[in-house]
Amino acid sequence: MSQAPAQAIYLKDYLPPAFTTKETFLDFELLADHTLVRSRLKVVRNPKRQDASNEFKLDGNELELLEVKVDGQALSEADYELTATSLTLNLDKDAFEFECTTRIYPDRNTALEGLYISGGMYCTQCEAEGFRRITFFQDRPDVLSVFTTRITADLEKYPTALSNGNQVSRIEQDGKVVAEWHDPFPKPSYLFALVAGDLICQQDRFTTQSGREVLLQIFVEQGNEHKCDHALESLKRSMRWDEEVYGREYDLDLFMIVAVDHFNMGAMENKGLNIFNSSCVLATPETATDEAFARIEGIVGHEYFHNWSGNRVTCRDWFQLSLKEGFTVFRDAEFSSDMGSRAVKRLEDVSFLREHQFPEDAGPMSHAVRPASYMEISNFYTVTIYEKGSEVVRMLRTILGAELFRKGSDLYFETFDGQAATTDDFVWAMEQVSGRDLAQFKRWYSQAGTPRLDISRTFDVDSGVLSLKAVQSTPTTADGSAKEPFVIPVELGVLGDNGQQLELTADDDRFDLQRGVWLIDASEQTLELKLANQTDTTPVVSLLRDFSAPVLLSDDLSDQERIQLIASDSNGFNRWEQCQIIYKKLIIQHVNGGFDSSLLDGLKTSLIQLLNDSDVEHAVKAELLNLPSESEFLQLVPSINILSVAQARKGLRVWMAEALKAQLEQLFVDLNQEQQYRFEPKQVGIRKLKNLALEYLMLADLSSFQPIALKQFETATNMTDQLSAFRFIVKHADEASAERVSDAFLNQWRDDVQVLEQWFRVQVSRSDSKTLSRVSALLSHELFEYQNPNKVRAVIGAFAMANVESFHSADGSGYEFLAKQVAKLDQMNPQIAARLISPLVKWKSYDQARGLQMKVQLEGLSKLELSKDLYEVVSKSLS
Ligand code: ARG
Ligand code: ZN
Repeated sequence: MSQAPAQAIYLKDYLPPAFTTKETFLDFELLADHTLVRSRLKVVRNPKRQDASNEFKLDGNELELLEVKVDGQALSEADYELTATSLTLNLDKDAFEFECTTRIYPDRNTALEGLYISGGMYCTQCEAEGFRRITFFQDRPDVLSVFTTRITADLEKYPTALSNGNQVSRIEQDGKVVAEWHDPFPKPSYLFALVAGDLICQQDRFTTQSGREVLLQIFVEQGNEHKCDHALESLKRSMRWDEEVYGREYDLDLFMIVAVDHFNMGAMENKGLNIFNSSCVLATPETATDEAFARIEGIVGHEYFHNWSGNRVTCRDWFQLSLKEGFTVFRDAEFSSDMGSRAVKRLEDVSFLREHQFPEDAGPMSHAVRPASYMEISNFYTVTIYEKGSEVVRMLRTILGAELFRKGSDLYFETFDGQAATTDDFVWAMEQVSGRDLAQFKRWYSQAGTPRLDISRTFDVDSGVLSLKAVQSTPTTADGSAKEPFVIPVELGVLGDNGQQLELTADDDRFDLQRGVWLIDASEQTLELKLANQTDTTPVVSLLRDFSAPVLLSDDLSDQERIQLIASDSNGFNRWEQCQIIYKKLIIQHVNGGFDSSLLDGLKTSLIQLLNDSDVEHAVKAELLNLPSESEFLQLVPSINILSVAQARKGLRVWMAEALKAQLEQLFVDLNQEQQYRFEPKQVGIRKLKNLALEYLMLADLSSFQPIALKQFETATNMTDQLSAFRFIVKHADEASAERVSDAFLNQWRDDVQVLEQWFRVQVSRSDSKTLSRVSALLSHELFEYQNPNKVRAVIGAFAMANVESFHSADGSGYEFLAKQVAKLDQMNPQIAARLISPLVKWKSYDQARGLQMKVQLEGLSKLELSKDLYEVVSKSLS
């Protein structure tokens, strides 16, 4: 664990280094109980640095320094300054060669940063600051060098020895393998990768648009070779898509992916050698759900797209992280939309944003898309940087239009290729191609917080003018600063009684009549729309179509108007959104006393109509019946009792199940047809809707439908159907049945790591008086491992994040359990500990009693000696 005092680092203090490394030669000797790393660096003065500093500062963390040389001369301790985190030299030279040798212990590395061992194979994770755990280096993204890497390892144990770029030589001699790799593209150290193990590879080929052949390889442990097809297909689709949609071609002759079981995040875009959490790459229809297939496609795409948005153009400093992550999430979301159902992808992304990012923005870890400061950068791989960052890019495209946006992206890649850039550079490119001034828009990068946007109508029958008045405000966030107005693009339509778009005119340079985009850039602003034809009632407006900006919108539509939009809006997103608004209203009503029955009646009619509408995709129907998560209510009603919300939500589900029973039964019968599994949008939609129907039917009539679920569990030929049935039985059936299917599932799948993870997740999802003891028992299960982040997330994480009723139980036992586990995990893996604590950090949003119980646990943690990662989160949440 890093013992350095936790200090904040500020964007305003950014200074280019005095020297920069141009070439890096690394020599790894992988020995039985340690590894020797020899590095040789070609260093020159950095033209970007203005003053005449002679400081050559290298980062290091937990390294044993064996030797240092400059231009071939060994240095003594008096020639440099060595601290726990750095090695600094003062050199009055314009260019020199620096060499050093370090010893590291990969087998003791439980933080999973730097070089570590996963299931007997060596692998690396260097982003953001893991390279400094391998050797002393200018471990900052604005230092780009060409890497040549030699790996020497035991031939029998590690016949596969990989690094970035192309293999230049490979020798097998005296029981050793010596492999040398060269990556011609200059890169920062965070993109370095090394893998050594006994791996099997599946391969394929891809011909780029300019006709170059690229070899594609996926390396896995023995026994997993049949699980690579989907990832390989996804990779080829990603490569083709980036050529077609962004004009980006792959640039090396080889692209490798390696699957490892121990990994802190999803995957990593190391140049030419992506390293993946095995759960984000391995899949067969029998072992992976449709959701997993979709996630794999998205992540394979994401990491591949980084080759341009991240690697060819990288980040100047870590405050710019969203430059690559926000843009790349936007790119992968568009890719997934093109491969699958665009409508469903948008609904899922908006739900995710509201469930996770909005609360983050309202809590103690709130930060801007381009943060102003951080203590530990690992804590800033957040939904704000990734998902809100993607929304910001999306808004740029909405404002510019697709064509100019593409021009801007071309200019960005062309101008900054091979360089380390900033979010300002990205916006600059968009300004250049559009001639727009985006200075105010950039507040989306610099200001944290979720804007509240209120839009109300006034209609003048005589003149036929509909006035929309917008008021925006953004609550203060953790940094305490006042918020200036954002530029908010609102896509809208004005509708007649049966949903047809009304003809209108407008004389307002902030409204793009053709695309229906209104730019709101003041705290108060009015738009006047003149209707072409006479009407005597205030027309209905469909606002914020496709969620055109990440804001919390309130409007003045009546329930009746919402019901009308559900039936007739041409914008599919808004039909779903209006359902969500009504669900939220009903749930809040229930918390305060009971449902309003006339609203229920109206809802029932609309839902039946939607379910019977053959123009609505199956998957969209399923999404329409999905209720907003509990966490969304904390944003709407401060201090609301989360257990009352959970109960109300359950009550509404039961009501829907009963109200729609006939339709759901019919759907279940119609859709429950055996077919050869394929991961394609129609089939995915059918399985989604069919399984949703089954769960609702169990809620309405358990005794009739539990046997049907059990039969599906036993006879399913794909994991989507099997896991759905398994999950429903464990959640809703009696305890004995839940235990029986759990044992059966475990027996069937105990040797499959990916499925086992799902088993753990389902185990902690059941809420009853024994939940916590069941969760605790799982931690001593023979197949559980504290050192494996996936298993930790599947048990501890899933309990705290997905089992609302048990985690938030009134006695505070859930909170105490989590704090205890986090304290333990912090000793092994600070990154994981700091992430796992997040359900407690938003304690101020909960009712007072719960909030206090959470706070007590955080205070307990704050008294321990914590890693920098956990310290930052705990101290910010208590301040
Ligand atoms: N750049 C990776 C991705 O978005 C994330 C890796 C971050 N890893 C970490 N340990 N912080 O695909
Ligand atoms: Zn990424």
